[in-house]
Amino acid sequence: MHSKMASILVNAAIAQGTDGIYSAPMPSFSSDQDAERDLRERVASQHYDNYLDVISHSHSITVMDYEVDRFLAKLPQGALILDIGGCWGWHWRRLAVTRPDVGVLIMDFVRANLRYAQQVLGPLVGSQVALMHADATALPFPDGDNAGSPGFEGVWTVQAFQHIPNFACACREAHRVLKPGGHFVNYSLHATPFNRIVYRLLGKTFHTLSAYSIQI
Ligand SMILES: C[S@@+](CC[C@H](N)C(=O)[O-])C[C@H]1O[C@@H](n2cnc3c(N)ncnc32)[C@H](O)[C@@H]1O
Repeated sequence: MHSKMASILVNAAIAQGTDGIYSAPMPSFSSDQDAERDLRERVASQHYDNYLDVISHSHSITVMDYEVDRFLAKLPQGALILDIGGCWGWHWRRLAVTRPDVGVLIMDFVRANLRYAQQVLGPLVGSQVALMHADATALPFPDGDNAGSPGFEGVWTVQAFQHIPNFACACREAHRVLKPGGHFVNYSLHATPFNRIVYRLLGKTFHTLSAYSIQI
């Protein structure tokens, strides 16, 4: 396994389940976060024959592949990335070719999504990729500026923070585990008037960074 990945998991004493997925302690969830998790569990319980076909309904695969490559190009040799809400892990399917030196820890609070990632990523899991069942608002790692811990050179998250009711806490956690000078990238749904109306109808908050003054 990627050496920094192995030491961050060992240092944080995160146990690996019999299904090969690491498990962090889960916090107790607010009712709106619980509702979001139930929804994601229902989506994950369906069977998908062609994952890229399903993904293409909500993502431009070509655009995201381009953005992944742009992100990877900023990272130093041997970097470790945390993908928050990484789900099926498809962003990293080309990693052995594009950046064989980089490690990616994909975390998600729906374990069934991580089991799907095992199928999507095949032998990358256990070498360059590890999967962790955890919550974005309670990351089980020491601060990234802690001299005794490897820390993450990059935190990557796509269409996940927009679904987290405690958005400010998720941002603080991402910042906390990053090494000084590390890169944070968050892609969320574009704030079009239509999207804002849909969110209002669903009774959800549309988070925009300009609406927050987050103390980090
Ligand atoms: C819309 S999906 C996006 C998945 C993936 N990033 C992608 O681009 O295909 C959102 C993912 O975030 C996860 N998620 C939502 N809230 C989370 C939280 N608080 N902690 C960890 N994962 C979370 C969901 O389980 C789901 O897999």
